[in-house]
Parts: sequence; structure tokens; C-alpha cells
Amino acid sequence: MIVTFASSKGGVGKSTTCAAVAAHLALGGEGVQVIDLDQNGTLKRWALRTSIPNLTVTAIEPPAFTAFCRESQESGEFDHILIDLAGSREVTLLKALARADLVIIPAQASEPDMREALVIADDLRDVAETAGREIPFRVLLTKMFPLRTRVSEFAFAELERHRLPRFETVLIERASYREMFLNGEPPTLTEPNRAGAEIAALVAEMKAVVGAASVTRSAA
Ligand SMILES: Nc1ncnc2c1ncn2[C@@H]1O[C@H](COP(=O)(O)OP(=O)(O)O)[C@@H](O)[C@H]1O
Ligand SMILES: [Mg+2]
Repeated sequence: MIVTFASSKGGVGKSTTCAAVAAHLALGGEGVQVIDLDQNGTLKRWALRTSIPNLTVTAIEPPAFTAFCRESQESGEFDHILIDLAGSREVTLLKALARADLVIIPAQASEPDMREALVIADDLRDVAETAGREIPFRVLLTKMFPLRTRVSEFAFAELERHRLPRFETVLIERASYREMFLNGEPPTLTEPNRAGAEIAALVAEMKAVVGAASVTRSAA
């Protein structure tokens, strides 16, 4: 599957989630290509610290994106292509949305992040209409407090009010996510029963969404 991690804002957890999901899939024996489109090269640097089999991380200049993505698909080497974007609303974002089987919009439980999620969801609906196909998406709440708070209730209610679908799985604020970029080790290995279990649940949901969408497409 091709998964795009999208938001027009930095710091919401795109790169962290992308890396944790990529590592989880690769450790499970699936071939993963991560395309790092953020000129800060967060994931490219992470890849230098980690040595996970089946995982390839490539930093790409935005103009080279479409060709690189097509070649990765056509190579047949990868089960999954995960795309990590810079946090800005520009043409590369639209290209990466247009290619996706699933778009993940990470957001923290805050008013500004909910607004940003709405903006991306609107862009995505435009892209899907232009491309003439459904592009499934889910908001992923990240850096959550472990207990439900007024703020998390607000976030759940806002998503519902705007009919923005979200993953049931939420990612809790955990040191292991931060440590991943320091020592290279993904939560699936460092904290299999906590952060690793969250990522496993997220991956299961991702596969279910993409599977359901392809069943709908082939029935149409
Ligand atoms: N679930 C989490 N728990 C703890 N820290 C997190 C979590 N998700 C992200 N972070 C931290 O938040 C910061 C921003 O995350 P990052 O993934 O780089 O965001 P983005 O790619 O959207 O800019 C980083 O310091 C990262 O380590
Ligand atoms: Mg990033």
C-alpha cells in the first residue's frame, strides 16, 4: 500500500509515526520504501542510525517525487511505500495525496491541529474528486495523554462534528517515540508491549481500511 503522512503543520508526529510504522512493517518481513520529502531529512538521518532489514529510506527532492514513486512501485521490490512530507501546504503535498491508497493526518488534540486536519481533509477531497477516485483517510491523534481529558474529549467531538474519520488507535506521548530518533531503535523493539502494541494496532487498522477500500473498488 502507498501511505501518505500529511499535515500542513510541523511537529504533529508525521515523521515519528511514519518511522515507527515503517519499522513495524519491515520487522514483520514486508518490504518497505520510505520516501523522505522533508528537506530537514529527519527520516534519512534516522535510517543512518538503524539497521532494519527490508527497510529502505530515500530522501528525494520534491521535483523527483513522481518518477521515484512510480519506479519504486514498478520495481516490485516493496510491499509498501510510505511518504513523509514536510509540514507545508504546497504542490508536493497534493502529488503525494494523489498517489496514496491511504492518507494519515496526524494531529494533536488541540484546536489548531483540528483546524489543520480539516484543511488537509478538504484538500484531499478536492484531489480525490479531480483524480476521480476515493482516497481513504483517517486522522491519527498523537502525543495524547494516557487518560481521557477535556482536551481529548474536545478533539473527539470536533472530529465527529466535522465528520472526519479517525483511527480508533491513538498514540500516547511516550519517551520511546522520542528515543527512536536518538538511538535508531523503533518502539516495536524497545517497547513491544506499549508503544509497539499501539503501532501494531495502528498497522492493523491501516491494512483494514485499505483492504476495505479495494474491495469496494473492485465491486464497483
Ligand atoms: N507519540 C509521541 N510521543 C512522544 N513524542 C512524540 C510522539 N510523536 C512525536 N513526538 C515528538 O514530537 C516532535 C515532533 O514529531 P515529528 O514526528 O518530527 O513531527 P512532524 O514530522 O509532523 O514535524 C519530535 O520531537 C518527536 O520526537
Ligand atoms: Mg517531519
